[in-house]
Amino acid sequence: MRNLILGAVLALLLVAIGTVIAANLGMLPTTANSDSPRWERRFAMGALDAAVERHAPRVSNPLPKTDENMIDGMKLYTMNCAVCHGGLDQKPATLAHSLYPPAPQVIMHPMDDPEWRTFYVIRTGARYTGMPAWDKALSEQEIWKVSAFLSNLNKLSPGVQDYWKKASGVAPPTASDEQHDHAHHDDADHQHADHEHDEH
Ligand code: HEC
Repeated sequence: MRNLILGAVLALLLVAIGTVIAANLGMLPTTANSDSPRWERRFAMGALDAAVERHAPRVSNPLPKTDENMIDGMKLYTMNCAVCHGGLDQKPATLAHSLYPPAPQVIMHPMDDPEWRTFYVIRTGARYTGMPAWDKALSEQEIWKVSAFLSNLNKLSPGVQDYWKKASGVAPPTASDEQHDHAHHDDADHQHADHEHDEH
């Protein structure tokens, strides 16, 4: 039994040392302009989901969902997030396929996450991805406004929908559009499909 444990520890140590050597020799992939394999996306998204589940406080948005607050959220989104996550025009983002892992296209494929979850991810970011933590760049109120906008994207009031249409020339998604349950992996697959579509 002791030998078995010793063997296992030794094997792990060798893998760790091997990885460090490979990294120093420049043998680990570091480019961001390629597609991530499905197992890696599953693993990473699973890890993010589990971490958010464990750490995110279940707080409710202190701001009322007035048209003004939702439009503020839309503007903040357009200025800070659209370059990676896609604009109101519902076309793929400029940087959609320039990140590893790719950024979910949250306008084309609206999320149905609760606001506390969206708030937490925006505020703290996602390590080892292109997703920044916004706690130093935006105020808490601003983050709540963006979170409310994203978590209620296909339930916007007529006034906010009008604003969207005027700003982008394209109507916002509505609840009757295709719904995506909490399926992040699906999002990535869709992006892949979009990507292939782009090339034709
Ligand atoms: C530089 C590119 C970039 C910018 C700018 C950016 N993000 Fe992200 N974001 C990402 C990437 C990449 C991910 C995916 C992280 C992952 O795979 O775990 C992500 C993930 C997210 C998620 C989690 C989605 C999910 O399905 O769990 C939310 C919510 C989000 N971003 C919101 C925002 C908001 C709001 C802004 C602007 C205030 C923003 N992001 C700005 C790249 C970006």
